[in-house]
Amino acid sequence: MSLFGIPLFPEQASTFAADVDALYFFIFATCAFFATAVTIAVIVFGIRYRRRHDGEIGARIEGNLPLELLWSIIPTILSMVMFGWGASLYFHMRKPPAEAMQIYAVGKQWMWKFQHLEGQREINELHVPAGKAIKVTLSSEDVLHSLYFPSFRTKIDAIPGRYTELWFEATTPGRYHIFCAEYCGTNHSGMIGTVIVMPPNEFQAWLAGGGMEGSLAQRGAKLFTDLACVTCHLDSGQGRGPSLKDIIGTTVETQAGEKVVVDEAYLRESILNSQAKVVKGFQPLMPTFQGLVSEENLVALIEHVKSLSPNAKPAAAAPTAPTAPAAPGPTGEKK
Ligand code: CUA
Repeated sequence: MSLFGIPLFPEQASTFAADVDALYFFIFATCAFFATAVTIAVIVFGIRYRRRHDGEIGARIEGNLPLELLWSIIPTILSMVMFGWGASLYFHMRKPPAEAMQIYAVGKQWMWKFQHLEGQREINELHVPAGKAIKVTLSSEDVLHSLYFPSFRTKIDAIPGRYTELWFEATTPGRYHIFCAEYCGTNHSGMIGTVIVMPPNEFQAWLAGGGMEGSLAQRGAKLFTDLACVTCHLDSGQGRGPSLKDIIGTTVETQAGEKVVVDEAYLRESILNSQAKVVKGFQPLMPTFQGLVSEENLVALIEHVKSLSPNAKPAAAAPTAPTAPAAPGPTGEKK
C-alpha cells in the first residue's frame, strides 16, 4: 500500500497480514473519527460560546443523563470490540498449529542465525516454503533482540536463557525484510536479513542442496557422543543418567518431588544447569554445560533427544518459564 509512491505499509505476505491490518485500520479509523470530532467541537464551541463582552457570565449546566450515558456506552462498546478482536487475533498468532514446520533461530549481536531440521544453516537469510505453517523457536546468545517479519505482521523477542516462538504461514513467494525490533547495541540497525518465500517444490530443491553435516538431529547425535553424554545416558536405563529414549512429553519426578514435563525448555535447563531438576533415583553427577554448548549446538542436542522419541507429539515445545539461572546482562559476552 502506498501514498503518492511512498510505501506506507509492508506487503501482506502471510495469512495474518490482512487480519492484522484490518484491526489496525479499524482502530486507526475509530481514533481518527473521534479526534476529528473532538477537534471540530472544540473549535466550533470556542467560537460560538466565546465571551462577547466584559462581565458576561456563563450559563450554569447541571448535567445531561442521556448524553452522559451515550458517551460512556459507545466508547465501552468500541473498546470492547478492539479488545475482543485483538485478543482473538493474538491467541491465533501465539498458538502454532501442531503440524507446523520447525525452524530454530538464534539472535546475537548482530545477526540472525537460522537452522533447519534437515541440516541447512543460514545467517541473515531464511528460506521458507509458501503455504505451509512455519514455527520458529528462538533464543539469544547475548542480549534481548526481537525477530520481526513486517510483511508477515509478526514478531517475538529473543530472550537470553529461554525459548520463545512465533509462527506464520507465508502466502506469496518473494523476498521480504527481517528486522531486529529491539535496540540491542551499536549495530542494532544493521541486524537485518531477508526471508525468501519459495514455492514448495523450489524449497524442497533448495533444502536438498545443502546440509553437508547431516540433519540437525544427526549433528546433535555426534555432539551427544563428543560431549560424552552417551556414556551415562544409556538407552537401557542402567546408566548413571536416565535413559532419554521416548522421554519427550512424559512427566518425570525430580529429587525434590516436583513433577516436570520433559519438553525443550526442560532439556535446555538440564543441559545448561544440570543440577536444577535431577530426576529422582539418580545422583547429581552431570556436569553443567553452561558456556560450553552454544545455542546452536543446544538445539542440535535437543533435536537429537527428540529424535529418540519418534512417537511423541510434534508440539512438545513449551516456551514458557525461564530455564537458565541467570541471563547475561546487556553487556553479555560475545562468542
Ligand atoms: Cu538485535 Cu536489535
